[in-house]
Amino acid sequence: MTESSDLRMTRLPLSHGAARMPALGFGTLIPDAAATITATRDALEAGFRHFDCAERYGNEREVGRALQAGLAAGGIAREDIFVTTKLWNSNHRPERVEPAFEASVDRLGLKYLDLYLIHTPFAFQPGDDQDPRDQNGNVLYDHDVTLLDTWKAMESLVDHGKCRAIGLSDISLNELKPIYESARIKPAVVQVESHPYLPETELLEYCKEKGVVLLAFAPLGHGMRPGLLEDPVISAIAARVGKAPAQVLLAWAVQRGTAVLTTARTAAHARENFDISALPKDALDEINRIQTRQRLNPVVTTGVPGFIPKGRGA
Ligand SMILES: NC(=O)c1ccc[n+]([C@@H]2O[C@H](COP(=O)([O-])OP(=O)(O)OC[C@H]3O[C@@H](n4cnc5c(N)ncnc54)[C@H](OP(=O)(O)O)[C@@H]3O)[C@@H](O)[C@H]2O)c1
Repeated sequence: MTESSDLRMTRLPLSHGAARMPALGFGTLIPDAAATITATRDALEAGFRHFDCAERYGNEREVGRALQAGLAAGGIAREDIFVTTKLWNSNHRPERVEPAFEASVDRLGLKYLDLYLIHTPFAFQPGDDQDPRDQNGNVLYDHDVTLLDTWKAMESLVDHGKCRAIGLSDISLNELKPIYESARIKPAVVQVESHPYLPETELLEYCKEKGVVLLAFAPLGHGMRPGLLEDPVISAIAARVGKAPAQVLLAWAVQRGTAVLTTARTAAHARENFDISALPKDALDEINRIQTRQRLNPVVTTGVPGFIPKGRGA
């Protein structure tokens, strides 16, 4: 559990890579290009220093433009921000990993990446089609490449100084364990859906034991209503501590030792999400006792994005 009362400044050490990851991260899964630019700029202005991207989101150029402009305007150094992007399923063949990585870095307009993740453990048919299907609409998986093959290509990116840290996403504990055991460079981060309805406690315990950061996506339940933002336990705590439900959910996540990614398309939400403070222990205990269980994004079972309209991009 994090002791610092200023949760906004929490940075988590990574098992490899130079930078410590700011616990509060901003996710760029924003389908609209113009909204991507304003939201990324607003997040930087609100204080976010950790940005999560993906080739699959189709907006790395826009995120990159907003980051360049925001860094210049705010006098912020590249080293002060932490940028992640992800390898998509159709690029799992080892020979496709470095070109996919270079293309992402180029679109983002960066000289280096802090973190590169394998977006999902599912390999799709290799090629430019990010959503390959047969005539019946079934996903075409690639059975000729293993996750470990792809991981080794990721390791060589670190060996060659291309990116500072590597990790996995949308992976279950059972899938993580063999990769962790076989990896020469251990995954620094695992990005999965997590919130009080899907606490992923066993995975979190494993990650803590191994020094892997668990990076939670959908910490606000993807903003779905009814949902976490209207949960009676969360609402009551919010009223008691004088904070918004979103701030309660984010504080809980950081205090239990995870990093988080929120997406906010409005500047007001970005400011609210950055302005979190520590909850008292009894509030954390109450949240830990919530019994509702719900997974919102099925990507972990199929590799098919759950939060992006079909044909766009997870
Ligand atoms: N690895 C994967 O497969 C995967 C899958 C999904 C997501 N992700 C990553 O995780 C990031 C976050 O996921 P997510 O979008 O589900 O996160 P989320 O923060 O749980 O949900 C975002 C939704 O919550 C709303 N919201 C944000 N701040 C709010 C506030 N203070 N009060 C009320 N509503 C608020 C947003 O509305 P407004 O936009 O209107 O502000 C938006 O509709 C993504 O951007 C992406 O980077 C990864």
